[in-house]
Amino acid sequence: MKTVKEIIAQKSKKEPITMLTAYDYPMAFFADGAGIDIILVGDSLANVVLGLESTTEIGMGEMLHHTKAVVRAVRSAMVVADMPYGSCQVDGGPGALGHARQFIEAGCQAVKLEWFEGCAQLASKIIQSGIPVMGHVGLTPQTAQQLGGMKVQGRDRASAQAIINNAQAMQEAGCFSIVLECIPQEIAQMITRQLKIPTIGIGAGPYCDGQVLVIHDLLGLTVCNQPKFSKKYVDLGKQITEAVKQFKKEVTSGQFPDDAHSFHMPPGFLPLSP
Ligand code: KIV
Repeated sequence: MKTVKEIIAQKSKKEPITMLTAYDYPMAFFADGAGIDIILVGDSLANVVLGLESTTEIGMGEMLHHTKAVVRAVRSAMVVADMPYGSCQVDGGPGALGHARQFIEAGCQAVKLEWFEGCAQLASKIIQSGIPVMGHVGLTPQTAQQLGGMKVQGRDRASAQAIINNAQAMQEAGCFSIVLECIPQEIAQMITRQLKIPTIGIGAGPYCDGQVLVIHDLLGLTVCNQPKFSKKYVDLGKQITEAVKQFKKEVTSGQFPDDAHSFHMPPGFLPLSP
């Protein structure tokens, strides 16, 4: 398993960190097998897999269920789980600490906390209890409504400064790395230069210490809107539709199952008496 120390060292060695989301056993198996450094059980599970409107709609039950499936598949990557909205922003303090511990008991190496008022203090408490925390600033979907929606953040002086301050606060709280989501690349570059801990960008340009994508976006499996910053490396959605159509055609025409996909009784057994 990749350790916190190894992830931090990648920044000084200028070895870009790769992170992808995964929410189930097969995706985690393939991402881990391909050598991804960190697998994030993101709360994007809500929109990407469960068809919900907002990440605020899922809780610890769903997150733990999917985290356990991911952990079962992973051999080398670090597994990080998102603290869902209710687990830290609604149920803060001692409740949040207990929730973070549940992710570690499920087999994760760390948890991720999206920025909110009081987030740095909570991160510090969780870290002091021995649980590594990854921060997340910029566009934070759990509080997107307060940020004017799912759009680029930090485009004016005041909000850019706030993001820089928030990133600094997460480092001071003891976070081992930080996600920068949907901010201008110039701001991401400043933060990356300023911080000792690695930055992992998503829609934050090339000057971060690493990059993260939602695996369904990368594979062309996203049914909801795909953001401009994510790149589709293959169109599996199209291939799935084609394969399913072919199956339907072969079943309805009697082509499937053929002899190669069927079983026979050993010779001499037939005919059986009814
Ligand atoms: O939940 C998620 O997928 C995330 C990534 C966008 C970093 O937090």
